[in-house]
Amino acid sequence: MATTAALAVGQQVATGALFRQAERPSNAEGAATQSAFAKQPLQTSSASAFANGGLKLTHAARPEQRSVRAVAQKISAAVSTAAPAQGERQAQSAKKAVDTKRTVIITGASSGLGLATAKKLAKSGEWHVILACRDFLKAEKAAKAAGLPKDSYTTLHVDLSSLESVRQFVKHFRATERKLDVLVANAAVYKPTAKEPVFTAEGFELSVGTNHLGHFLLVNLLLEDLEKNREAKPRVIIVGSITGNTNTLAGNVPPKANLGDLSGLAAGISEKSASVMIDGGEFDGAKAYKDSKVCNMLTVRELHRRFHDKTGITFSSLYPGCIAETGLFREHYSLFKTLFPLFQKYVTKGYVSEDTAGERLAQVVSDPKLGASGNYWSWNNDQSSFVNDVSDEVADSTKGQKLWEVSEKLVGLK
Ligand SMILES: NC(=O)c1ccc[n+]([C@@H]2O[C@H](COP(=O)([O-])OP(=O)(O)OC[C@H]3O[C@@H](n4cnc5c(N)ncnc54)[C@H](OP(=O)(O)O)[C@@H]3O)[C@@H](O)[C@H]2O)c1
Repeated sequence: MATTAALAVGQQVATGALFRQAERPSNAEGAATQSAFAKQPLQTSSASAFANGGLKLTHAARPEQRSVRAVAQKISAAVSTAAPAQGERQAQSAKKAVDTKRTVIITGASSGLGLATAKKLAKSGEWHVILACRDFLKAEKAAKAAGLPKDSYTTLHVDLSSLESVRQFVKHFRATERKLDVLVANAAVYKPTAKEPVFTAEGFELSVGTNHLGHFLLVNLLLEDLEKNREAKPRVIIVGSITGNTNTLAGNVPPKANLGDLSGLAAGISEKSASVMIDGGEFDGAKAYKDSKVCNMLTVRELHRRFHDKTGITFSSLYPGCIAETGLFREHYSLFKTLFPLFQKYVTKGYVSEDTAGERLAQVVSDPKLGASGNYWSWNNDQSSFVNDVSDEVADSTKGQKLWEVSEKLVGLK
């Protein structure tokens, strides 16, 4: 099955067949969106297809799976060689007349918190939202269903499980010639029931590779764009979580987040290294997610330490509340998916709707009252925001510096 699926994906990639059935919008804004859509598909569809269609193999990969991976990697290499010139043309044609709106990039804006935040900001009339998504068609459909005004957003492809895709995204964003005001690193994968690890295009364990390393590279590449816009008081927000903070009840539900001495990460958290976990331990999908959230919050604090004074950029993290029905839990057991929202609504009272969570994140994007840098924001039940405490591990600046140095090497910045 895996072989058939991967080859089918490969054929679609090779022929550019995916995405050809798009409808052509007739108005000017639609035409701009369509041109990005129509010319982006080879790269867009290929990267998404690889992410979803069989490239991610486990430690226990069988010989035929390994050969599928070899085929897929050859296709991937061919696509990434062919993509840049085409991508530049797409971004050129997606370029819009400069408007007076501020620009925010939101990764993972095709569902859940990212979409709700995009909706809140786009509908305010003050923001142009770049929906930075791995599945272009899903993002376009979600934006339309959420009622985002046509001239309030642009969808650009990024697959955070591919560092090459992150680099391409930055090029495509720059080609739009928009000034960047705010970057929101929101996308995440969570694999609580996985028995075996799966890997990113560059071979990192998927949760840490996507949630942390993909965003780490994206933020680093876009720092210069934000700094250029210093007078606009730019912001970078990386979404954190209570589950990565072991100073809370939720953070103490096993398996607990713990980066240990970062020896697993330093060794590459790959199929070839002794461990795929940051702390060098046995694979655990739920822990890998929680560890990635610790990395997200440590990264914000390290960004603040390194760059706030120099660049004027505000760096923040947040816990938006328990949005118990988002796609994040898509791979959980069905009984969990039924009971978890009820438990959060009636027992912990930590439940928030997607809309409420989106309003909270939108505040961190745009509210002058939440403009201080280096904070981890949370909300009281009366919706008032406050600066929350983080766990000892997240507050550990020595660990933050080490994480930064190891991550820089892994993503090829050093
Ligand atoms: N739900 C909660 O209770 C909760 C609590 C605390 C923090 N958070 C945080 O909130 C953020 C959003 O999560 P959510 O609950 O809204 O979940 P969600 O609905 O599943 O949204 C996650 C988004 O990330 C995208 N994504 C996943 N892998 C990607 C990749 N390789 N490249 C690009 N995009 C990718 C998904 O794209 P597709 O649509 O293509 O899958 C989706 O748009 C996460 O950072 C999560 O850790 C959530």
